[in-house]
Amino acid sequence: MKTSLLRWTAIAAVTLLACTTAGIRELTYPPDFHYISEGEIRGTMGGLAVRIHALDQQMAQQAPDPEAVVALLTEMQELAGQLNPREHTQHPRINRAAPELRADIDRALAGVRFRPPNYFWAGQLSGSCEYCHVPRHE
Ligand code: HEC
Repeated sequence: MKTSLLRWTAIAAVTLLACTTAGIRELTYPPDFHYISEGEIRGTMGGLAVRIHALDQQMAQQAPDPEAVVALLTEMQELAGQLNPREHTQHPRINRAAPELRADIDRALAGVRFRPPNYFWAGQLSGSCEYCHVPRHE
């Protein structure tokens, strides 16, 4: 009687664990896998969108502020790093294109840190969103 109650409690606990999404992910995906939730993607993308907008505003200036541009690019680098830091995600598109986005941000940063700053790659960066997004026609 006591044993069977224990067994049922154990089974219930395991079932409960398996039914929480975290449990399912832990049981289904390999360790070098990063399950990226819709919420994470949206948060990261919203952050990127704000910065690319501010960056384009800087690029439209006669004399962009190099420190502001470096700050924006550094923040974008951090955000893009959250997409798939080392591991693969469940999004083939992110696995394929996030490293390219990061490489483009690195190149833009290197350009802006030049003396005098070279803004060419920073000015092109919004085009890198098109690795995953259909271009906007405004
Ligand atoms: C590596 C692929 C990838 C790149 C590069 C990328 N995105 Fe995204 N983005 C996604 C995915 C995946 C979503 C989730 C919706 C979907 O599937 O389109 C998304 C969604 C968004 C959204 C909608 C967020 C919401 O609240 O629904 C915005 C805004 C956005 N991206 C902006 C950008 C900007 C700006 C850039 C360039 C700096 C960019 N993205 C580059 C993959 C990418």
